[in-house]
Amino acid sequence: MNAIKLDISKSGIAVPAEMQRKAEEANALLHSKKGAGNDFLGWVNLPSSIDAAQIEAIRTQAAKLREKAEVIVCIGIGGSYLGAKAVLEAMSDSFKLLHKKQTEPVVLFAGQNISEDYTAELLDALKEYSIAAIVISKSGTTTEPAIAFRIIKAEIEKRYGKQEAAERIVAVTDQARGALKTLSTNEGYPTFVIPDDVGGRFSVLTPVGLLPLAAAGVDIAELVRGAQDMERATADGVPFAENPSAVYAAVRNMLYEQGKKIEILASYEPKLQYVGEWWKQLYGESEGKQSKGIFPASVTLTADLHSMGQYIQEGERQLFETVISVAAPARKVVVEADKENLDGLNFLAGKRISQINRMAELGVQLAHVDGGVPNLRVEIPAIDEYAIGALIYFFEKACGISGYLLGVNPFDQPGVEAYKKNMFALLDKPGYEEASKAIKARL
Ligand code: PA5
Repeated sequence: MNAIKLDISKSGIAVPAEMQRKAEEANALLHSKKGAGNDFLGWVNLPSSIDAAQIEAIRTQAAKLREKAEVIVCIGIGGSYLGAKAVLEAMSDSFKLLHKKQTEPVVLFAGQNISEDYTAELLDALKEYSIAAIVISKSGTTTEPAIAFRIIKAEIEKRYGKQEAAERIVAVTDQARGALKTLSTNEGYPTFVIPDDVGGRFSVLTPVGLLPLAAAGVDIAELVRGAQDMERATADGVPFAENPSAVYAAVRNMLYEQGKKIEILASYEPKLQYVGEWWKQLYGESEGKQSKGIFPASVTLTADLHSMGQYIQEGERQLFETVISVAAPARKVVVEADKENLDGLNFLAGKRISQINRMAELGVQLAHVDGGVPNLRVEIPAIDEYAIGALIYFFEKACGISGYLLGVNPFDQPGVEAYKKNMFALLDKPGYEEASKAIKARL
């Protein structure tokens, strides 16, 4: 079964044979590992390489944390944060924190910013609860999570002592390199490995995403199963028209060539907001280089129709829109008739909220198309682990193909170093003395 239905009928694009061939070749290049960035293609066959023993090892470790802690702080940034956050938000009750009886440990995130207020508020919030931590960094040297970990580690050690801290802290990092690896070895933390050949933004299906998700009670086997099925559906040799990742990659590149420089990922389910954040990193970091690449933006509708809607409808015509559409909600709420009908809404009586949402979606789609915003629709049957796993792999595969079609290496990110150099120079990091003088003179 293919969990993803891609509809390009409102994109205004018919993909010519030449482009179809190029997309098939780009897909083949990902599988033959002969293209740019071929050191980082471990994600291509990652889902099918995950076996029951790996899932079990992650679940076992997650169960230990779940037993010990009411709150698990997951520390990481970028690719070591956004995947887990996106899936967790998608799979969570929107108001779970208001439920008096918490049935699952709460997984919170830290290290994805350097905000002092966020850090202080987090420490305050943790006071009343038993805690554990998962610290995630492939390089093991990223400043933001390293700062957060230093603080959370100290808090855990202060409360439980060093020995017990080694039962409450789990690291996910490189097999051999980096400060986090050294620290974990020295402190005796259980450790999961991020494969060398899987880059951060493609790592959600490694322990980077799977461990915190299992700790939060997400069914990671189903997540992986969805990705495995999508791996098969987009495999090398699948004809262009049957490969939704290839079609999506081709269409967005053709739109880009026609001047559509901004892609807006839209969804009508607020739970998918962070899927948008994850997707922005995936595409922005993979394609935004050599002075080219589609700018990835995201909106949550219908909320953002009351803010960004005006621009999308009538602003500069350099946009196209990709909608993640959910075929069926998990819950049922019906609008009731009202005797007085003062709000005039009785025409909706008896209708489910999802029917109204669907009509909003269809109405917006046609309005945007009429306004010159080509529309693609990625439909998933429901928001569940299986469909989200499929969606993740669908976008990853499309991203690899799309980057090759664009003519960039989608698996590096040289641009993210620039800010770090400046920040270290401004903070007088040893080794940055000359840069420090130079940058301070520019302030
Ligand atoms: O995609 C990437 O490579 C980045 O977003 C990284 O995931 C991010 O910088 C965090 O890196 P690390 O896991 O090494 O701490």
